[in-house]
Amino acid sequence: MDYKKISQTFWDQGYIIFEKFFSDELMDEYNNKILKHYGLNQNWEHTNEFISKSAVEVIPWFPYRESDGGFDGIDRHPEFNEITDAILKEGWENLYCMMMFSKAGSKGQAWHQDCPPDDPKKYNLNRLVYTHDITDETGGEIVIMPEAHKAGILPVGNPHDEIEGQLVFQPKKGTVVFLHGHCFHRVKPVKSDRVSSNFRAVPKGTPEDITDICVYRNMKYKFSTSEVIEERV
Ligand SMILES: [Fe+2]
Repeated sequence: MDYKKISQTFWDQGYIIFEKFFSDELMDEYNNKILKHYGLNQNWEHTNEFISKSAVEVIPWFPYRESDGGFDGIDRHPEFNEITDAILKEGWENLYCMMMFSKAGSKGQAWHQDCPPDDPKKYNLNRLVYTHDITDETGGEIVIMPEAHKAGILPVGNPHDEIEGQLVFQPKKGTVVFLHGHCFHRVKPVKSDRVSSNFRAVPKGTPEDITDICVYRNMKYKFSTSEVIEERV
């Protein structure tokens, strides 16, 4: 791997994508483990009343906080972490590993920045790993505005509107997307139940609550208190 080129590409674009990075076997194993946690079987049938009744759009699970982890095949993967070393040259640490379950028919995610871009040196790095294919049938495509990590704050506007220059991706099983937290991104509506995972990292010394405030086109939202802290008009 040409780590210098990888780092350059990441810092030019605000993201970099690796297809077939993890093996199908590992992804199948982890996908099943995630589904099992949510009370789903491999045929995606609901067995968990909570999920079928829940109004929540995305249900998170933090396996290293809430249980005993179990995803070291990604978390400790040497090349996965060497790429992270190349991108975050001055050192980094794991923020958390978050699994996300989205129900069929859920809205996806509106345009956002994971944290306010007031200080370009304070940011998170998403390391999105796809344990199953994203297709026309599943929906839930990730949309990225290239180079937006250098663009300051996300412009005010309609939360889900297309932005000229946006790129839409349908990552397949085993794909990794490294994405700068200040780079504008969204997730298109989800058509069938889906899971995705984020092995989030931060530059060394970044506060642990870096992603507590999320910037949307119509508001800033604080997760820890579940409140809109600023309406954006
Ligand atoms: Fe995000």
